[in-house]
Amino acid sequence: MSLLIQNGTLITASDTFQADILIEGEKIVAIGNNLHAPNAERIDATGKLLLPGGVDPHTHFDLPMFGTVSSDDHYTGHKAAAYGGTTTVIDFVNQDFDSLRQCVDAWHAKADHKAAIDYSFHMNMVRFNEDVGKQLPELLDEGITTLKIFTAYNGVLRIDDGSIFTLLQTAAEFGMLTLLHAENGDVIEKLVADALEAGHTSTEWHALTRPSWGAGEAILRVAGMAQAAEASLYIVHMNTAIGVDMLEYSRERDIRIMGETCPQYLFFTIDDMRRPDGAKWVCSPPMRTKADNARLWQAVADGAMQTIGTDHCPVFYDGTQPIIYEGQEIAIPGKELGVDDFTKIPNGLPGVGDRMPVMWTEGVVKGRITANQFVALNCTNPAKIFGMYPRKGTILPGSDADIVIWDPDRKVNYGVAMSHQRTDYNLFEGWDLVGYPEKVFLRGQLIVDGDEWLGKPGGGQFVKRMPDAQVL
Ligand code: URP
Ligand code: ZN
Ligand code: ZN
Repeated sequence: MSLLIQNGTLITASDTFQADILIEGEKIVAIGNNLHAPNAERIDATGKLLLPGGVDPHTHFDLPMFGTVSSDDHYTGHKAAAYGGTTTVIDFVNQDFDSLRQCVDAWHAKADHKAAIDYSFHMNMVRFNEDVGKQLPELLDEGITTLKIFTAYNGVLRIDDGSIFTLLQTAAEFGMLTLLHAENGDVIEKLVADALEAGHTSTEWHALTRPSWGAGEAILRVAGMAQAAEASLYIVHMNTAIGVDMLEYSRERDIRIMGETCPQYLFFTIDDMRRPDGAKWVCSPPMRTKADNARLWQAVADGAMQTIGTDHCPVFYDGTQPIIYEGQEIAIPGKELGVDDFTKIPNGLPGVGDRMPVMWTEGVVKGRITANQFVALNCTNPAKIFGMYPRKGTILPGSDADIVIWDPDRKVNYGVAMSHQRTDYNLFEGWDLVGYPEKVFLRGQLIVDGDEWLGKPGGGQFVKRMPDAQVL
């Protein structure tokens, strides 16, 4: 089947120009003016923008944690992503078994029959030794080229510095990229114990027990190790000014390091956690200050930060009250689990569907970034960094026909009712947005048409990613 999208304004990471796009089957085959395609179905995109489908490099669907599970699964989360203009996501596999292949198989068993957009996996590394290292080529065979490590969550997810260094050396040997969750686990452990002993149980203590400089020192520490190991490093969910300083310091010294921030860290602060419903903002790392927001925006605008991800890990605010999702009542235990104790609040926020509409209004419409930067941060750079370019993240002949027809004039009053994320709240409730996806194509298939959902479980494909990806 051929499809010709005519008269739109195409936006890539580097250029803006008027062009038609010809799609054959799942692929873009031509871009230009007056394309000859007499038998093609036609869509008129006059006055609309044509963007590559978004690539969200950081999601957690159906993730068991804190005695509950993240409330979007690999279908509902994909559907929400698509409504927001995202057509590819990368989720994190838990290291639940000694065999990495078994871990990956378990994640495929949860995801494959539900996937409604294209997807890939990162591997969480919460134990590392020689035996695990020997299994990394099996991950490469599966198209999994990225490993996430943690310097926090003592006794659960964190690995020690010696293991981190050996992992970095091994990752470098196999052309894999290491992702870092940067906080200081030992200091957090002590401050949490101190806070509880002093009777501090309210939500803001989640942030007060996780000092900002912990991110800064952990980034610099692991960046130094990456340099010694000749490895590449990507800092996930950056939330602090000091973290940006350390990212820049390291990049100026030619360390192969990149950064991701998320919308929540650009807009919200610890003051939001002090609201009566402050648990909605509990995630790790936590919300900081207005100065941190501003420094992160500066990094997004001046290119120090390479990507916008979401760390989408939704939790109900009140999991005792069902919502209706696709006609079914659904209630999943949520933030109420920590009503008397901040350490029991499940960590995580919704965001996979919010990212592109919110960043368009707040970034492009408000003049903080250009439309081309928007595409670079949300689409092209994640595809390049994570070994999916040029199949994903761009509009080029030969690329998958993942295209968003974006209506730059559509005004919406945004919130939980629009977002399709399977939870009972939205961080951007009541925000007035300008610019919104009108039609979303996944490999040439129309999956979102205005407010109508045309995607289906199992319609998404797993994307095997390439190693030795770019350091931007
Ligand atoms: O609070 C969060 N971010 N939960 C997800 C796990 C992580 O560290 O990314
Ligand atoms: Zn993390
Ligand atoms: Zn995460």
